[in-house]
Amino acid sequence: MKRIKAIYPGSFDPPTNGHLDLIERGSKIFDELVVAILRNPEKNPLFSLADRRKMLEAMTAGFDNVSVDTFDGLTVDYALRVEARAILRGIRAISDYEYELQMALMNRKLQPGLETVFMMPAEKYSYLSSRLVREVAQLGGSIECLVPEIVGQKLREKIDVAHKFEKSAESKGKAASKTKSKSKSGNKKAK
Ligand code: PNS
Repeated sequence: MKRIKAIYPGSFDPPTNGHLDLIERGSKIFDELVVAILRNPEKNPLFSLADRRKMLEAMTAGFDNVSVDTFDGLTVDYALRVEARAILRGIRAISDYEYELQMALMNRKLQPGLETVFMMPAEKYSYLSSRLVREVAQLGGSIECLVPEIVGQKLREKIDVAHKFEKSAESKGKAASKTKSKSKSGNKKAK
């Protein structure tokens, strides 16, 4: 019998519990599943490709038939290269459907032999997205139960570094404006 290999492509910036839920479901129906992170130089991701890969590798370490890879260019070309027969995508709500359908049909046009398989994550993740996780974390909200521990930790590290950077830029700015106003008042006296 033919073994069925699938790819699960995405940005994963960062990976969430919703992604993990889908990976688990996919690993049960496909013989092999490759989580494929898009290397997209146009987007300005919060996490580097290496960070996203590390997080996904840690998250999927317990699944024997799941691996993590990166790709650029067309998803269908990558799928062909790794000899996958299906593309796995998650649909959380009707709002995802239109975009996903468009992509699936375009991918079918490009590569008719490749099937897109849609799966639904658990209802408790139906509102969850990487964008919202980034926003909530950056604004100091709790992301507990939304992302795996390793992702939570990396997000906290990123945000701490960003805060430190902001604070040091702020204090440098204050020091610079103090020096400016001192030299201005010095100039006035000299006049
Ligand atoms: O996690 P995302 O951002 O929703 O994933 C979107 C992704 C990576 C699956 C999609 O943008 C994609 O397939 N990009 C690769 C380029 C490509 O094949 N474009 C044509 C899609 S029809």
